[in-house]
Amino acid sequence: MTAPAQGTIESVLVENRVFPPPASLSATARVGSMEAYQALCAEAESDFEGFWANRAREHVQWTKPFTEVLDQSTPPFFKWFQDGELNVSANCLDKHIGTPVENKNAIIFEADDGQVSQITYRELLDRVGAFANALKAQGVQKGDRVLIYMPMTVEGIVAMQACARIGATHSVVFGGFSAKAVNERVIDAGAVLIITANFQMRGGKELPLKAIVDDALAMGGCDTVKKVLVYERTQTAWNKVEGRDLSFGEALAGQSKDCAPVPVNAEHPLFILYTSGSTGKPKGVQHASGGYILWAKMTMEWTFDLQSNDVFWCTADIGWITGHTYIAYGPLAAGATQVVFEGVPTFPNAGRFWQMIERHRVSIFYTAPTAIRSLIKAADSDDKVHPRNWDLSSLRILGSVGEPINPEAWMWYYRNIGGERCPIVDTFWQTENGGHVITPLPGATPLVPGSCTLPLPGIVAQIVDETGKELPNGTGGILVISKPWPSMIRTIWNDPERFKKAYFPEEMGGSIYLAGDGAVRDAKTGYFRITGRIDDVLNVSGHRMGTMEIESALVSKTDLVAEAAVVGRPDDMTGEAICAFVVLKRSRPTGEEAKQIAKELRDWVAKEIGPIAKPKDIRFGDNLPKTRSGKIMRRLLRSIAKGEAITQDTSTLENPAILDQLSDTH
Ligand code: WT7
Repeated sequence: MTAPAQGTIESVLVENRVFPPPASLSATARVGSMEAYQALCAEAESDFEGFWANRAREHVQWTKPFTEVLDQSTPPFFKWFQDGELNVSANCLDKHIGTPVENKNAIIFEADDGQVSQITYRELLDRVGAFANALKAQGVQKGDRVLIYMPMTVEGIVAMQACARIGATHSVVFGGFSAKAVNERVIDAGAVLIITANFQMRGGKELPLKAIVDDALAMGGCDTVKKVLVYERTQTAWNKVEGRDLSFGEALAGQSKDCAPVPVNAEHPLFILYTSGSTGKPKGVQHASGGYILWAKMTMEWTFDLQSNDVFWCTADIGWITGHTYIAYGPLAAGATQVVFEGVPTFPNAGRFWQMIERHRVSIFYTAPTAIRSLIKAADSDDKVHPRNWDLSSLRILGSVGEPINPEAWMWYYRNIGGERCPIVDTFWQTENGGHVITPLPGATPLVPGSCTLPLPGIVAQIVDETGKELPNGTGGILVISKPWPSMIRTIWNDPERFKKAYFPEEMGGSIYLAGDGAVRDAKTGYFRITGRIDDVLNVSGHRMGTMEIESALVSKTDLVAEAAVVGRPDDMTGEAICAFVVLKRSRPTGEEAKQIAKELRDWVAKEIGPIAKPKDIRFGDNLPKTRSGKIMRRLLRSIAKGEAITQDTSTLENPAILDQLSDTH
């Protein structure tokens, strides 16, 4: 591979351009060359368990050292470092006490309204200790599940760390999810306590959280929940249920800041995080403690080349896996100073991110392609929010996560944010992976826009066919990881059978992890390019949504909807957009009536799941295209949603006339 000549960066077909790491960055990087990367890969290949044992000793503090690295006796239920003991919170906080990190800022918090506050590692440890004691005082014990429904605040991170400190398993629910979603997760996880806030501030608006928890609990089935702790984010009053609800102030009153971290087994469930799959019911992805914190810390150093004076900023929400690994755990375990942002990228205007990078001298910036695309659009239409208005010279590394980044967005990010000086690490991973699995290393890997490049050392990623047979480079296929890795999903909470079926198909031997994405490797370089999900999962603005989940929400409006099918179509801004085809119990609406019912259905889906699941397009039909055996032909619906001419074979279709009706956009 060769570097592009200066001044040739104009073509639109950018996939073949190569951007080598800047020499100055390689010179000091933790992994500073392809040779160094390959040496790590070779070490992992020649002695897989020895390689991970070394990493686990280097990155994790164990209260009881492990003697066994990997237990493969009952695949796919792999266990890592299983006779070792540790505490994850101690690995993020206590271990820095007495080092230069103790009085360093752990978090620079910028509130929605722009107010800034700082908290050092020492102060954060004290806050976590006091909160952990408050949880204990409410009866929370090791192994209990605690549901966290919090805004992006220091308190949210403290809540997660406090659970980890006492060995309680947290389940964070994104603050945009509905009461119904909270109710289902409380029931599935059997949560004993909920941590929430009265309100959250987003874009200058005060939005309820506690009231949604009340609704969720009123839906029934939540008898396990004994207490609700409420962070008073704003002055606004909230409804207090006596005997059940306590404000943070009440819960923390008189609590000591000293709380000894509880050692747990390496396999102890640190958290459950619900994510969408290909059935109507979200999956409770269960992560362990030892392998997870190893990965969070190690990838901060490998992927982001974290150095002691870096200011790291991941713009995700703690409600998603990115916010778990690269806000609540990884940066703390690595002793970083990080920016935590409460608000939204477009408030008070679309220059907010760039202004914050300048203000806090951010050096590593990690965001999602969907945010970049919307900020490109904003900068194009309003020069006042163009990034050139701010000094972004503190940046040295950029990251992308959540969906494929299109080469145009990559180039804009590279030039306008990174000043053509900062490598972009396009990190591919999933909730189930725990942390990065395929990603460039900024001081080593030559970058190709739109490619997540190569697997991390020890990750055996391959492209295979349906039977698990590896395909040659250049051929698109199914992405798998064929050896276990320390931060992998351990099971689906309450559903080990579904875990096996969803991720370790029998046809591939039962021990190879199926990612659910399609991918292709470059014929020459072996670089990976992710082509998108191959199951019934959509990726809308980097948020994972199950088509079946949205369908079940639609058909649960039983007074109106007879049948619904949901598919995705490409969208310039959000990556994919949700399209619903709906058959009503009454006759097919048109014109104004159709618009009005579509709105009603969108609001319904927002209430059932959350606003992120609202279909962008809703089309009504007298029926859906079905085979004679009654199966909905989704591939036809996908073509219609895209506005494509139907070229597929429709001979098995029971009711061909329906295609014209559904294609008509009224
Ligand atoms: C799905 C996982 C873990 C990050 C947040 C999303 C897609 C994620 C990339 C990337 C192409 C990507 C995949 C994956 N995805 N990162 N760099 N390039 N696609 O986590 O909600 O579990 O979604 O996001 O389709 O399967 P998630």
